[in-house]
Amino acid sequence: MILSAAMTIDGKIASKNGDPEISDEEDWKSVHKLRTEVDAIMVGKGSILKDNPKLHIKYYDHNGYYRIVLDSNLSIPIDSNIITYEPDTYPTIIVTTENAPVDRIREFEAKNVIIIKSGSGNEVDIVKLMPILYGKGIKRILLEGGARLNWSFIKNHLVDEIRITIGPWMVGGKDALSLVEGEGFAKMCESPRYCLSNVKKNNNYITLYYKKEKP
Ligand SMILES: NC(=O)c1ccc[n+]([C@@H]2O[C@H](COP(=O)([O-])OP(=O)(O)OC[C@H]3O[C@@H](n4cnc5c(N)ncnc54)[C@H](OP(=O)(O)O)[C@@H]3O)[C@@H](O)[C@H]2O)c1
Repeated sequence: MILSAAMTIDGKIASKNGDPEISDEEDWKSVHKLRTEVDAIMVGKGSILKDNPKLHIKYYDHNGYYRIVLDSNLSIPIDSNIITYEPDTYPTIIVTTENAPVDRIREFEAKNVIIIKSGSGNEVDIVKLMPILYGKGIKRILLEGGARLNWSFIKNHLVDEIRITIGPWMVGGKDALSLVEGEGFAKMCESPRYCLSNVKKNNNYITLYYKKEKP
């Protein structure tokens, strides 16, 4: 699992009003290049509701990959770009819970969306989910946020690599989301530790690459 994000100098992934425009075109090209190397791109429901992304590839020829959204009660709009935009190239999987309404499942399946149920709690059980995806041949996944989903994967020590671009803004705001939200770890030694594997400078931007340290 590779976590990819763009953040401001002060570690925010969107402004307090949800403005997500941090990357420049060069950074988007590099993100799209990374997309060509994975089996799936995963995002949380919050990112779909706020940004309505297509999660496609614009700059390279490519045969496609899965787009995966975690949505515990299947409440994303059925006309979201992730459902309607080029579904043959980028098939969409919605991962939900046992509590998802049956009629809603049917509505999405009628649009050729693949529904996976993982867990019966308030949110998708991501630990159970990983072997299910692996069984479908989805081994290399690009986690593209947002802040709450990033925390779930960090909390469970499931992020192997990180690619973070720092854009040249200081946007501030206690309500502006940081790269990772959630309750956080109490001690550094409980949290996953990463080795800096590469640094790339692109004009006014910098991209940091990390790999998880072996325990
Ligand atoms: N700068 C960047 O690189 C970047 C990238 C992506 C997103 N963003 C920004 O991030 C913001 C969205 O982040 P967000 O934190 O609000 O939402 P999010 O992380 O995209 O989605 C969180 C939602 O996913 C659902 N979910 C289901 N199972 C989950 C699980 N096990 N763990 C966590 N979430 C689970 C939950 O909704 P239910 O309980 O209803 O299912 C939860 O509220 C947007 O403003 C977007 O612009 C920035």
